[in-house]
Amino acid sequence: MPAGKKHRFNQNWMHRHLNDPYVRKAQQKGYRSRAAFKLAEIDDQDKLIKPGMCIVELGAAPGSWTQVVRERLGFASQALRGKLITLDMLAMEPLDGVLSLVGDFREEETLRVLQEVLPDGGCDLVISDMAPNLSGVASADTARMGDLIELALEFSAVHLKPGGCLLVKCFQGSGFSQWVESYKREFRQVFIRKPKASREESAETYLLGKGLLPRA
Ligand SMILES: C[S@@+](CC[C@H](N)C(=O)[O-])C[C@H]1O[C@@H](n2cnc3c(N)ncnc32)[C@H](O)[C@@H]1O
Repeated sequence: MPAGKKHRFNQNWMHRHLNDPYVRKAQQKGYRSRAAFKLAEIDDQDKLIKPGMCIVELGAAPGSWTQVVRERLGFASQALRGKLITLDMLAMEPLDGVLSLVGDFREEETLRVLQEVLPDGGCDLVISDMAPNLSGVASADTARMGDLIELALEFSAVHLKPGGCLLVKCFQGSGFSQWVESYKREFRQVFIRKPKASREESAETYLLGKGLLPRA
């Protein structure tokens, strides 16, 4: 991008960021990012998080979804009521009661470590806000996003308890209908969620699978 254009882009981004009500609300409530409100809204509607659950969160840094999950799992006697395991390529500031792993979800070694810390019976809920670094080349970005979505689905099909749920970030556009179809093969019900905190002009949307079907 030419230097002048880049400067204008940064100025526009900063202007929008400073005037964004969700950014202000996140600062007031001590959330690490405005993304907290996306998960909070989806969970208000779908009641996914319940105390006592084992939850795996993929693409968790800087940790605002983790903060929301922690609140909703609840604390009793200084301990988290449930189990929360997070994963990201980037390290994040620790949060009490949360097991945070650092690794690339596409790598076998990361999956091995994740499997090792999961309880024998598996988990109740998988949530993924993973997004690749966008290159601007639509076909390459869709392919990278597709890889992450497929991996999250494969992981969930193996490690969710029967009846468990999966929430995954994806982008509307090419590939979207195939992702919905692959979800429908695994879950009893499939929903598309676009929370208000997700910018209207963004292709970002969330796919929610409820009720993992028994393996054939
Ligand atoms: C939009 S951010 C997540 C924000 C988070 N939900 C929050 O509320 O703070 C996406 C994250 O996905 C992570 N990510 C992308 N690809 C990944 C991969 N292959 N393995 C692990 N993490 C990945 C990035 O490092 C980034 O931190």
